[in-house]
Amino acid sequence: MSSMNTVYFKYLPMSTRVLFSCVLLVFGLAYSMAMIQVWVTHVGLDGKSYLTAKDLMISYGGNKEGTKMETALKGPMSAMLDDAGKKVVATWLHKGAPQDEFDKNINPIVQEHCVVCHNKAANPNLPDYTTWEGVHKVALTDTGMTVPTLVRVSHIHLFSITFIFFIVGFIFTHAYIRPTWFKCVVVATPFLSLIIDVASWYLTKMWEGFAWVVLISGTLMGTSFAIMWLISMYQMWLGKVPAAIGEDGKVPCIK
Ligand code: HEC
Repeated sequence: MSSMNTVYFKYLPMSTRVLFSCVLLVFGLAYSMAMIQVWVTHVGLDGKSYLTAKDLMISYGGNKEGTKMETALKGPMSAMLDDAGKKVVATWLHKGAPQDEFDKNINPIVQEHCVVCHNKAANPNLPDYTTWEGVHKVALTDTGMTVPTLVRVSHIHLFSITFIFFIVGFIFTHAYIRPTWFKCVVVATPFLSLIIDVASWYLTKMWEGFAWVVLISGTLMGTSFAIMWLISMYQMWLGKVPAAIGEDGKVPCIK
């Protein structure tokens, strides 16, 4: 069955190695962007300046002590309002968001700082702040991401991340790694992590402890990506050809 053996990186045609490397470079960039996106949307919700399980509990499961509006003003919306304005809004929210005070103190702030984006005409997917009803919805207790939002995000994640790890994993199969089981574990880990990760988003709504599973599976996914990326690039361009590679350039199978 030696015809089934994979060709070692250095024996691939130059054009194939250039193609693989370019794909890895762009994926590396895309992965960094994805991490920045995670940072921007989740970090700071619990007041700490790094990513914590608590941040994920709030994002997915909600925050029993807070409202969507306050959560957003600490996280993704924090740049939209100065500290003084945030304080006024927070004080109002803590009082239970009474309507009379909204008209007097809060609505002018919302009109000035939020409505540019938060109106039906500009962004039909965002909460509409042109009316009291629209604001009131996000001024209620934060129950986290809604199930329809989770379904939308999870189907995109499952499809796109599978593509990415299929391509990166396929490139990585041309590497020489012993023991073979380790190579297999690195290839399989992102897919298993992905399923556990996405399932845990929903489970975090039921039990907050699953936020740790989200954090750990995300870390495992990133670690496998880094291992495959670095080893592939190194063996493609830098490392010496290992002694175990035959003259035909094939990575030997386990006998
Ligand atoms: C520059 C455009 C823009 C401005 C200005 C803006 N927002 Fe947002 N807002 C967004 C976008 C885009 C999202 C959705 C993406 C996200 O969650 O990061 C969002 C999401 C939110 C959410 C979360 C909604 C949800 O269902 O989870 C809240 C709450 C919110 N904004 C409040 C505010 C408040 C309060 C202000 C004014 C101080 C404001 N926004 C100003 C663009 C804006």
